[in-house]
Amino acid sequence: MTPLIRPLVHDLHAYVPGEQPKIKGLIKLNTNENPYPPSSRVLAAVKAAVDGRLRLYPNPTAQALREKLAKLHGCAPDNILVGNGSDEVLALAVRGFVEPNSKLKIKNSKPAKATVQYFTPSYSLYPVLADIHGAAKNAVPLKPDFSLPSVAELKRGKIWNFAAALTFVTTPNAPSGRGYKTTELEILCRAQKGVVILDEAYVDFANENALKLALKYPHVLVARTFSKAYSLCFQRVGYFVGHVELIAALDKIRDSYNVNGLGQIAATATLDDLKYYRANFKKIITTREWLNRELTRLGFRVLPSQTNFILAKPPLFPAKDWLQKLRDRKILVRWFSAPEVRDFLRITIGTPAEAAALGKAVRGILG
Ligand SMILES: Cc1ncc(COP(=O)(O)O)c(C=O)c1O
Repeated sequence: MTPLIRPLVHDLHAYVPGEQPKIKGLIKLNTNENPYPPSSRVLAAVKAAVDGRLRLYPNPTAQALREKLAKLHGCAPDNILVGNGSDEVLALAVRGFVEPNSKLKIKNSKPAKATVQYFTPSYSLYPVLADIHGAAKNAVPLKPDFSLPSVAELKRGKIWNFAAALTFVTTPNAPSGRGYKTTELEILCRAQKGVVILDEAYVDFANENALKLALKYPHVLVARTFSKAYSLCFQRVGYFVGHVELIAALDKIRDSYNVNGLGQIAATATLDDLKYYRANFKKIITTREWLNRELTRLGFRVLPSQTNFILAKPPLFPAKDWLQKLRDRKILVRWFSAPEVRDFLRITIGTPAEAAALGKAVRGILG
C-alpha cells in the first residue's frame, strides 16, 4: 500500500451502485429508476437553457428551486438545502453533525457524538458515509417483517443508541418496500437526542409522508429526491427540509455550486408540472399491485410495498440464480448479499409492458 493514501481510504468498502449496462435491449429493473420520461415541459426547459449561458456559474443557492420547494412544503426557503442528489445532502449531514471517532480520543469505541446509526436492512450508503468520515456505526436490525422496533423494544434490546449524533431511517424502507406510519416515526424521533434523518426517497409511492415532523422538531430532517418519483436521476437533485439552524450549518460546508445549472432548471420546471408526475405515481402503483399478484400466483413470496419496487422471494432456485436466469432473458433486477435479504430479489416497477415481460420470463424459467 502506498503511504500516500490514508489507511481509512485504503480499507474502505466503497458503495456499489446498481449496474448501468451497456448492452442494448435489456429491461432495466435494477436501480429504481422511473420508467416514464420527465414531462415535456421539463425537457423543453432544459433544452432552452443549453446555450452560451453554460459558461456561467449557476445560482449558488439554487434560489428559485428552494423558493418553489418552500411553497410546496409550506415552509421558508431557509428550511431547505438542495444537493447534488439526496446522496450529497446525506453525506453533508454526516460531516456536519458527527465527530470523526479518532478526534474524540475516548476509549469507548462507539461514543454517541461519533455514532452514525441506522436500521438493517436499509440504504447501503449509510455505513459507507460513516466509514468515509471515520465515524462509528451502529447498525440495528429491523424486525423480521422489516417493521420498526418500538422504542420500548429498542430500549430492551440495549443496542440502539438514543444519543447517537445521527440516525438514518429509510421510510418507506429500502430494500423491503415497507412503509411506516408517521405516528411511529414521531415516537422514535421524540426519543432521540441527536439528529434524525427521515430518508423519504420513495415517499411519493407511499400512503403517507412525515414531512411535518421536519417542520415540528428542531432535530429532524426529511430527505427527498427528484430521482425516483420525478424521473430525474440523470440531473442529480435532492434536498433536505428542516430547522433553519441545521440547514444553515450544512449550507456552510457544502460546495458553493453543488447543484448544477441544468439540474436546477429541470427540478424547478418539474414543480410546475406536478399533475403529470402524480399521474405517473398512480400508474406505477397500479403496475406494482399487478406485478405483486402475478408473481404471487407464480409462487413468489412478495412483500407489500409502498415504493416503486418490490422485494420478492422466488421459488425453486436461490435468488442469486434467478438474477442470472432473468439476465439470460434480458431482464435486469437486483440481488443483495446481506443475510436478511439474500433470499429475495428487488425488482423495480417498470411499465405495464415491462412487468408483463417479467411475468413471461418467470413463466419460462419455471417451465
Ligand atoms: C433510500 C435512498 N435514499 C437516497 C437515495 C439517493 O438518491 P439520489 O439519486 O437523490 O442521490 C437512494 C437511491 O437509490 C435511496 O435508495
